[in-house]
Amino acid sequence: MMKDILQQYANNFEESIKDLFESENSEYKIISDACKYSLLLGGKRIRPFLINSFYMLCGGTGCYSFNFEAAMECIHTYSLIHDDLPCMDNDDMRRGKPSCHIKFGEEYALLAGDALLTGAFGLASTTKNIDSALVLKALLELSNSAGINGMIGGQTVDLLYENKEADVEVLKLICSLKTGALIKASCKIGCILAGANDKQIIAAETFAQKLGLAFQIVDDILDETSTEEKLGKPIHSDKENNKSTFVSLLGIDECRRLVVVLTQEAKECLDIFGQEAETLKEFADYLCNRDY
Ligand code: IPE
Ligand code: IPE
Ligand code: MG
Ligand code: MG
Ligand code: MG
Repeated sequence: MMKDILQQYANNFEESIKDLFESENSEYKIISDACKYSLLLGGKRIRPFLINSFYMLCGGTGCYSFNFEAAMECIHTYSLIHDDLPCMDNDDMRRGKPSCHIKFGEEYALLAGDALLTGAFGLASTTKNIDSALVLKALLELSNSAGINGMIGGQTVDLLYENKEADVEVLKLICSLKTGALIKASCKIGCILAGANDKQIIAAETFAQKLGLAFQIVDDILDETSTEEKLGKPIHSDKENNKSTFVSLLGIDECRRLVVVLTQEAKECLDIFGQEAETLKEFADYLCNRDY
């Protein structure tokens, strides 16, 4: 079952990242503790799973995509730490635990995010046994996805539209950037590191665009319908921050319908990979039906 496959992947992944972000001097151990706290305590690990899955799907061998898998999760974790800060979404809980700034204070949460972001590039750049031209291409993809024309751009528009009604087009822009950019980069990076051809990379990219949008719509639905225990983060955060979401604009039923359509379309993008893509198609269904 997909749930078990993902759990198994997450367990191995967590074992492999547990020694990252050690401090060499005990004077600044607090920042090592804050990084490890947020990075290691839970998370579905879907972005690294996507890198790994596309790497294998495109014929990658060994575990050589691991450094990028870890780097992507560091960037994602940093984005969550900053997203929860009082000046952003002001959420006190993340991954079932007090948010980084609640546990360590705002200043160290800010620095932990900075450390995770910068550390990610060091990690990715020390990738072994993959052609360095491919590593460079993947690094650029990583940087672009996290930057101004990626996740940060999306978080910016998200903030600009607090207390202001966004239309569906603006929401699609927010989603495609704040959430979609890292998901798209994950799929593409897996392909790039495996030396995939353009046709394969484009298929992965189109899959990711649909999946990323469906993923954020489910996140918005769960913010409205789930419980804090299940999600491991506060519910009704969007409403409290006066954010327009797909749910506030289109209603839950239309959102659920959209998620099903987008997931189906996403899966069809993988047809060019044949039978080998079955696990990734199951993964798309799993994300569509997730309850946390
Ligand atoms: C949450 O991402 C933030 C969004 C981009 C919607 P995830 O739902 O992947 O969070 P974790 O990593 O499992 O905690
Ligand atoms: C966050 O979107 C996206 C990023 C962190 C880049 P949300 O603000 O909806 O994510 P959650 O619901 O807090 O996880
Ligand atoms: Mg947010
Ligand atoms: Mg948030
Ligand atoms: Mg949310």
